[in-house]
Amino acid sequence: MRARYREFHAACVSCLFVGTVAVILLSLATVLPQTALAAGYESADGINGGMLFDKFYATSDKEKVALPKFSNAFRLDLSEIGAAGDFYRCKQCHGWDRLGCKGAYIGRAAKAGKRPNVSGANLALTAKTYSPKKLFARIATPGKARPTNFDPTSSNPIGDRMPAYGKIFSEAEIWDVVKFLKENAYDTTALYKLETEGTYPSGSVSYAAIGRDGNAKAGRTIFEKQCGDCHGDNGLDIDLGGKSVGQFLRTKAYEVHHKVGFGQLGSRMKPTKLSPGQMRDLYKALTDKAAFPSKPAK
Ligand code: HEC
Ligand code: HEC
Repeated sequence: MRARYREFHAACVSCLFVGTVAVILLSLATVLPQTALAAGYESADGINGGMLFDKFYATSDKEKVALPKFSNAFRLDLSEIGAAGDFYRCKQCHGWDRLGCKGAYIGRAAKAGKRPNVSGANLALTAKTYSPKKLFARIATPGKARPTNFDPTSSNPIGDRMPAYGKIFSEAEIWDVVKFLKENAYDTTALYKLETEGTYPSGSVSYAAIGRDGNAKAGRTIFEKQCGDCHGDNGLDIDLGGKSVGQFLRTKAYEVHHKVGFGQLGSRMKPTKLSPGQMRDLYKALTDKAAFPSKPAK
């Protein structure tokens, strides 16, 4: 009885010792790579990340245009990607609002060979809750990645799967996207109230309280300073697919924050640095139909 007690006691002490050493080693193992990885995150460019999120393979023949920095480290055939581009653009599967099929794209069904189904993931939420490292891993090697030799004109269920961006982006480019998701992307709940009806892919959406409690006067000043030279002080000078800037915002509130913050790729419109509060003020200002009228109906 006594002997057994002693045996137990001895085992217990060595157990404690081994346990303590293991805990120290484990915490070192988690702390060290995290500081190493944080360097990649810290030096990342979230504005470039936002451009990559839109269209990483964007090109233009014009000079001095807004384009992402994309190194094509894996020497992909970009013309081939371009032909099936909607199967590669983050925004296509996740939406400008990062809310996927629960957001503005609730009514955006897949089109065979043309575009995939919108994802059910909520990136606005995961961007908040995941560590940079975990986001990096999800983007580089998704749980159920699409085969790299996939032909998007064939089957849609495979096309809906996320590409393994570890084979598309350099590590620095993935960090740029992670930074965009965590720090630079606009939280659309602060910009308007999303109202959805029905379920994907046949749902519909509308926007209430655009600009929330923003300051319209401050927003008008931002517009005059940062947008008016090109768009005209009332937003009518450039034809945006038949719309003025005000009209564009009032119908596509889910998209404008991205185009303003990260540029209209391939065009003269470069990213404009606005804080979330300034973006909200700009939204508020553009709801004013007298100051920012719609184009007259033809
Ligand atoms: C063809 C559609 C498609 C494209 C393009 C796509 N994704 Fe995804 N993504 C998905 C799907 C479907 C999921 C959910 C299943 C999964 O995790 O693989 C997902 C999941 C994720 C997740 C994990 C979310 C979670 O809750 O765990 C992140 C982060 C993510 N995507 C970011 C991106 C980024 C950044 C890009 C562009 C660089 C991108 N995705 C492009 C379809 C896509
Ligand atoms: C250097 C000139 C320039 C400036 C500055 C500029 N834009 Fe633009 N913007 C353009 C051009 C050119 C287009 C049209 C590009 C095209 O035809 O695709 C455009 C497109 C847009 C669009 C439509 C995007 C789409 O998806 O079609 C919106 C909305 C917009 N601008 C709003 C703004 C706002 C708000 C500002 C200020 C924060 C601003 N722009 C600043 C030149 C500019």
